Amino acid sequence: MEKIRITIDGKEVFGERGQTIMEVARDNGIDIPHLCYHPKLSKTGACRLCLVRIDGRMLKTSCTEFAMDGMNVVTEDDGLKGIRRWLLGLLLLEGEHNCLYCDADGDCELQKYVKMYNVEKSDEDFPRNLREVDYVTSNAIKRNENRCILCSRCIRACKEVQVSNVWGFTERGSQTHLIADDDRRIGESSCVKCGACVQLCPTGALTFQPVLGTGLNWEFDKESSICIYCGVGCKIDFYKNKEGLLVKTRGNDDGPNKGHLCVKGRFGFDFVQSPKRLTKPLMKKDGQFVEVGWDEALDFVADRMKGIKDKGGPDAIAALSSAKCTNEENYLVQKLMRGVIGTNNVDHCARL
Ligand code: SF4
Ligand code: SF4
Ligand code: SF4
Ligand code: FES
Repeated sequence: MEKIRITIDGKEVFGERGQTIMEVARDNGIDIPHLCYHPKLSKTGACRLCLVRIDGRMLKTSCTEFAMDGMNVVTEDDGLKGIRRWLLGLLLLEGEHNCLYCDADGDCELQKYVKMYNVEKSDEDFPRNLREVDYVTSNAIKRNENRCILCSRCIRACKEVQVSNVWGFTERGSQTHLIADDDRRIGESSCVKCGACVQLCPTGALTFQPVLGTGLNWEFDKESSICIYCGVGCKIDFYKNKEGLLVKTRGNDDGPNKGHLCVKGRFGFDFVQSPKRLTKPLMKKDGQFVEVGWDEALDFVADRMKGIKDKGGPDAIAALSSAKCTNEENYLVQKLMRGVIGTNNVDHCARL
C-alpha cells in the first residue's frame, strides 16, 4: 500500500492511499464527530456531521472523502462547530427526543453530540411526521421511529452484516421513513432477530426488548465472555445491572464474530439466572423428586451404569455431550466413555 502524508489539525499524520480522511484520522487517534458512519459498514455520507475543512476552503464529509497526499485538514473550527450545532438542532427538531423515557439514554450517539455541542431543542413549531412505535410485535426488538435520524446504519447492518435485507427506506424528502420488508411490523417481518441493526443504531430508535431486568446504561458493569451455544465461539460483552442481573449483550469486535451475534448468543442468556435452573441434584424417591447430596447422586449413577455394563457389556451405554459444556468437560466425557466404560459410543450435539 502506498503511504500518504496529510496534516490534520496541524499535526502531520500518515495513512494509506484509498483511505478516507475519517479512517486516517481514526487510525491516528483523532475522533471526528459522526453519526451515519460506522467502520463495519459501507459509507453513505448521509448525516454531514463529519464535515471537515480541506486546504482552508472546501467542506467535505470526511467519511466519504479520500485522503490525498499533502492535504491539510481541519476537523473543527468555529464555522464547523456552528454547522454541527445546526445539524444536531435539526435532528432534534425533526424527531421526538425525550431521553428520560428512552432505553438508549446514556448509550446514545446523538445524545453524546447534543451534549458535546450544547445544543438546545428549538421550541419552533415544526410539522412532525409521527412514525411507528412498536414495542410489542417482536420479542427481540423495540422500535420507536420518532427517534430515527435516517442514518441508514440499520439498513446497511441488515444487508451487509446479517445479509437479511429486512430494513429499507420508503418515500422521499420529509416523508422518508424506515420500513421492514414491504412495510410490515417488525415482529411480522422476515427479521431473524440477530440484533445487528439494534447494536449499530446510534439512537434509541431501535432497542432490545429486556430479557430479564432493566437499569441505567451508565450503571451497567460489562464483562466479556464466550458464547456457549456453538463451536464458533463468538465473543460477547454481557451487561449486568445494579442488582447483578444480566440485562443485555453486545457482540465483541475482538472475537471471531467481529461483533456480530446470532439470536441464541444475543438473547439466550436468561437461563443463567433462571430460578428454574437445577443447581442441586434431584433423585426420584417414591415417585417424587427430592434433593440429595452429590455423593449419593453420583454413587447411584455409578451403580446403575456398572449394573448395565455387567448385564449388556460396555456398548449398552452411550453418552451424548453438549456444546454448552467447555472443551475440557467434553474431553472428559469421551475419556470416561472410552477409558472407564470401554465404549466408543460417544457423540456431541454440535455435530447433529
Ligand atoms: S434517541 Fe438519544 S437523544 Fe433521542 S431520546 Fe433517546 S437517548 Fe435521547
Ligand atoms: S433506526 Fe437507527 S440505525 Fe436505522 S436509520 Fe433510524 S437511527 Fe439510523
Ligand atoms: S435483527 Fe438482524 S435480521 Fe432482524 S432486522 Fe435487525 S439486522 Fe435484520
Ligand atoms: S458520518 Fe460522514 S456524513 Fe455521516
